Amino acid sequence: MASAQDTFTLKNGVTMPCIGFGTYDTSDEDACRVVLDAIEVGYRLIDTAAIYKNEAGIGKAIATSGVSREELFITSKVWNTHRGYDKTMESFEASLERLGLTYIDLFLIHWPANEKQFGADAEQINADTWRALEDLYQADRVRAIGLSNFKPHHIEGLMKHAKIEPMVNQIEYYPGRMQAETLEYSLEQGMVVEAWSPLGRGKTLTNESIAAIGARYGKSNAQVCLRWLIQQGMLPLPKSGNIERMAQNLDVFDFELTPGEMEIITQQENPTGRFWDADEIDF
Ligand SMILES: NC(=O)c1ccc[n+]([C@@H]2O[C@H](COP(=O)([O-])OP(=O)(O)OC[C@H]3O[C@@H](n4cnc5c(N)ncnc54)[C@H](OP(=O)(O)O)[C@@H]3O)[C@@H](O)[C@H]2O)c1
Repeated sequence: MASAQDTFTLKNGVTMPCIGFGTYDTSDEDACRVVLDAIEVGYRLIDTAAIYKNEAGIGKAIATSGVSREELFITSKVWNTHRGYDKTMESFEASLERLGLTYIDLFLIHWPANEKQFGADAEQINADTWRALEDLYQADRVRAIGLSNFKPHHIEGLMKHAKIEPMVNQIEYYPGRMQAETLEYSLEQGMVVEAWSPLGRGKTLTNESIAAIGARYGKSNAQVCLRWLIQQGMLPLPKSGNIERMAQNLDVFDFELTPGEMEIITQQENPTGRFWDADEIDF
């Protein structure tokens, strides 16, 4: 990737921007202003979800941005309370209405149902949810469908039932919280891998080793973290409420980390002290 305007091509031929804008923890009231700023500085991929409760605000930004709908790439996700075929369909319709759109570019299953919560039913629940996404895709209601937080064994379980392969996997990934096996497996399956919390929810930004690397290039910790993700073939989804920092996070295409620097960043400890394991979550 040579610029923020570059794209990934999904396995169905649809192109998507190589970096996106995150909106978790952005209120519905703030979402319109924040997303208008993001679009103004150049973001075209906006990542939301039913559970973020900000789709209406984002819809207002889309409608008033002056950028054509076709230039934007809007992602939403079905939340865990709406797994299964019928509830996923309901959730999709509600997201679409709140966003004020006629289609969504990318629709994801937010988290896999796991055995801890659902025992032997987990695989079938994921298959039923996926079947809804397949039907939405085949009815041209969405341009692409995919997964979030799925580990390789969840994907394998899904593939036993799937007619259409997932095109994207969106996973937690930042220095100190790597999911190398899931990244490798998802890329092998031809998926685009999006990195959520690419800045460790802001906790990577005081890391001194990362700062020392950034100083060599005149780049901030945030920019180094995003570059580290891009050089691993991922699509980062940074979030900021501040227009200067939004713009800074797009300015990551004019330097190249060396293999040694990549390795130093990979070796950093998890600054958040925790991570979400899809096999362990109970929400
Ligand atoms: N699929 C999932 O399960 C899942 C889960 C979590 C998140 N996500 C997605 O991933 C997106 C990003 O993750 P995130 O929101 O958790 O956090 P993040 O992007 O890792 O970090 C955001 C934090 O970093 C700060 N920040 C951003 N750019 C900065 C810069 N250049 N310099 C200094 N500080 C900077 C922000 O503060 P300011 O606002 O003050 O700049 C904010 O506090 C989410 O918004 C959401 O779209 C998906």
